[in-house]
Amino acid sequence: MPAIKFKNNRLFYFDQSKLPSKEVWRECKNLKEGFSAIKYLKVRGAPLIGVFSVYCICIAVKSFSSQKEEFFKQFKKAVEYLRVCRPTAVNLSWALERLERVVFKYSKRPIQEIKRAIFKEAAAIHREDVILCKKMADAGAKLIKKGDRILTHCNAGFLATTGEGTALAVIYKAYKIYGKLKVYVDETRPLLQGARLTAWELMRKKIPCTLICDNMAAYLMQHGEVDKVFVGADRIAACGDAANKIGTYNLAVIAAYHKVPFYVVAPFSSFDLSLKTGKLIPIEQRSSEEVRKILGKIYASPKNVPVFNPAFDVTPSHLISAIVSDRGVIFPPFRKNIKKVIPLYPKGHRYPLGHRRAQVSCPLPGRLRTK
Ligand code: MRU
Repeated sequence: MPAIKFKNNRLFYFDQSKLPSKEVWRECKNLKEGFSAIKYLKVRGAPLIGVFSVYCICIAVKSFSSQKEEFFKQFKKAVEYLRVCRPTAVNLSWALERLERVVFKYSKRPIQEIKRAIFKEAAAIHREDVILCKKMADAGAKLIKKGDRILTHCNAGFLATTGEGTALAVIYKAYKIYGKLKVYVDETRPLLQGARLTAWELMRKKIPCTLICDNMAAYLMQHGEVDKVFVGADRIAACGDAANKIGTYNLAVIAAYHKVPFYVVAPFSSFDLSLKTGKLIPIEQRSSEEVRKILGKIYASPKNVPVFNPAFDVTPSHLISAIVSDRGVIFPPFRKNIKKVIPLYPKGHRYPLGHRRAQVSCPLPGRLRTK
């Protein structure tokens, strides 16, 4: 089941904020709606927001000026608007930078040609994302044995990508091979992506799963109930430190204590080799109301209690057993081994700079720069 659809130049998304009680498809008609869908987690998961954001630009450019100077200004403004929407997932700026490169490359061509190139690039990013999921699934399934009991956090499945997912794609593949697995699902406070989305996905796929509150994982490990942990990532630094949904670091610490292997699954587009360590990864801080209220409805605390609500944390690489990428399984030492595989992806690829999404904007000619 796709999480988004781009058909006849129209963009549709499956509103994840309504799951599991309602299955609602919505159309994204402009940039503002796209921004809001990403910001309020109607469309979420690092790879998915990358693909969705470039389609949002496709929708937007349709009404951009046919005068070049103005077109470039509008394009740049739209990209900047979406780029800051969710700061931790590097896939967002990575995908938008790919469009910027295309616009740069075609900047001397007629506007219609630039627009066509933007649409083509967006479709390519989408197609590639599906393939990356398959490759991660194939590589990661080898780490799983028949009957394994796997713990996962947040949602890294088909709702979080345009393919089968990252961490969950590995589980889906292993289940296909062995037919016997059990998945423990962390509910993932405050927004319950595990309870609402992962449990929903696994049940749809008829994979045996058990939901737990986040604070029950240590108990399970203490009783020898967890064989492996598989999680996704929103940004991985050059040394292998990995940012993922808040609570992932807790899991990594208790997994290390109980000697449970801890695996991170992410495509090359989630690596940010411009950052030496995870300390440099920007962490999104979200609204206090998400913590005070349950599912945005009932107050579970005094209405004015001060709240701290970081949406992500960073797991230091020494707590990670291996990183499963579309280029295979990367083992420690991560700094050396990541460098060996990530920049080369994929051989003969049309976008050799694809891995260098960095914090730095891609080079644009003066007239493309707006203040
Ligand atoms: O805030 P979210 O729901 O977008 O957070 C998502 C996660 O943390 C996922 O684990 C991560 O994006 C990897 S998804 C394939």
